[in-house]
Amino acid sequence: MSTPSRKIPVDLPGRTYEVTVGAGLIGREDCFAPGILGEDVLIVTNETVGPLYLDRLRQSLGSRRAAVCILPDGERFKTLEGFSAIIDSLVENRMHRDATVIALGGGVVGDMAGFAAACYQRGVAVVQVPTTLLAQVDASVGGKTGVNHPGGKNLIGAFHQPAQVLADVTTLRTLPDREYRAGLAEVVKYGAGLDPGFFDWQEQNTEALLARQEHALIEAVSRCCECKAGIVLEDEKEAGRRALLNLGHTFGHAFEAATGFDQWLHGEAVAAGIIMAARLSEKLGHLSAGEAERIRALLDRFGLPLSPPPGSATVFLDLMRMDKKVTSGRMRFVLLRALGESFVADDVSDRDVASVLRQASAP
Ligand SMILES: NC(=O)c1ccc[n+]([C@@H]2O[C@H](COP(=O)([O-])OP(=O)(O)OC[C@H]3O[C@@H](n4cnc5c(N)ncnc54)[C@H](O)[C@@H]3O)[C@@H](O)[C@H]2O)c1
Repeated sequence: MSTPSRKIPVDLPGRTYEVTVGAGLIGREDCFAPGILGEDVLIVTNETVGPLYLDRLRQSLGSRRAAVCILPDGERFKTLEGFSAIIDSLVENRMHRDATVIALGGGVVGDMAGFAAACYQRGVAVVQVPTTLLAQVDASVGGKTGVNHPGGKNLIGAFHQPAQVLADVTTLRTLPDREYRAGLAEVVKYGAGLDPGFFDWQEQNTEALLARQEHALIEAVSRCCECKAGIVLEDEKEAGRRALLNLGHTFGHAFEAATGFDQWLHGEAVAAGIIMAARLSEKLGHLSAGEAERIRALLDRFGLPLSPPPGSATVFLDLMRMDKKVTSGRMRFVLLRALGESFVADDVSDRDVASVLRQASAP
């Protein structure tokens, strides 16, 4: 018997939508009914995910007119050219304001299709069907969309909330192991930073998560989406509390940049970043050594990197200063007061940051 699906409402003023988390959702026409209002649909996917799930998705669209835009696979194609290809497809297929874009894929497809939906005719509906763990627990919820520019990641974009999110955990079965583990880093982020009960649950369900058991995946994805939905409600445009979702990201972005964005996956860099944030919190007297160790041990069980990539503390610090999360010249770190209790600090000294980086890199 399949595990029942879960529904998480995202009640933004005037734009309520639902995140449905379950197994076998793609292929069920009733699941898509709430998000698709008109008769015209453009499915945006890529050359990897399309062959796996496109046919099943088409079956759930009934008699609607469905066109398909297949993009090349990879972060390096998350560009204005990729965005243009989606807009061209909408124009060529004579889609109007009542058209719906369905984003079938990971965060790259979701961000690009969402951005095209935000811009086409000043905004058409987008239904997010995330197929990576990272996209199910993070990218598909919250309305951030966009593409990269040669000058930086996600420099061009818009906030555009989806009409619906369908997270079908069955799709995670075909996800490569490394991508799956990288997604687990974001799952740990929610527990360690925002929900201590969820962190305990992860410690108790490590094996089920590693085995990708359906019931564990539905629980994990739902709890992450509940956390994210709660924060997005309080702070849709990232003026305050939404920054707490960036636990591990100030360090993580520097690690990604230091390795040229092509050696470490985002989640891998975030895992090492969460450990650095925990060490910094411990050094500054906020977090106990025991709690920092629990975080390290869980990320270790998930097979994620536990220390920074090769590089000097000075280089990492320079990269952190260039991060777009820097405001008025001050670096912001999400630190931990306790497991599940995070806060933003913008008064951390370079010396303390350099010290934890050096300690963590020491052989
Ligand atoms: N909008 C947001 O709030 C937000 C949040 C976090 C990350 N992001 C963005 O998300 C992107 C990263 O997303 P990602 O980690 O999902 O990477 P991705 O979209 O590149 O997917 C990773 C790889 O897995 C493949 N894939 C996807 N689903 C699969 C499946 N079910 N089976 C087999 N292969 C599958 C993809 O084709 C790709 O090769 C980045 O561009 C990042 O900026 C956005």
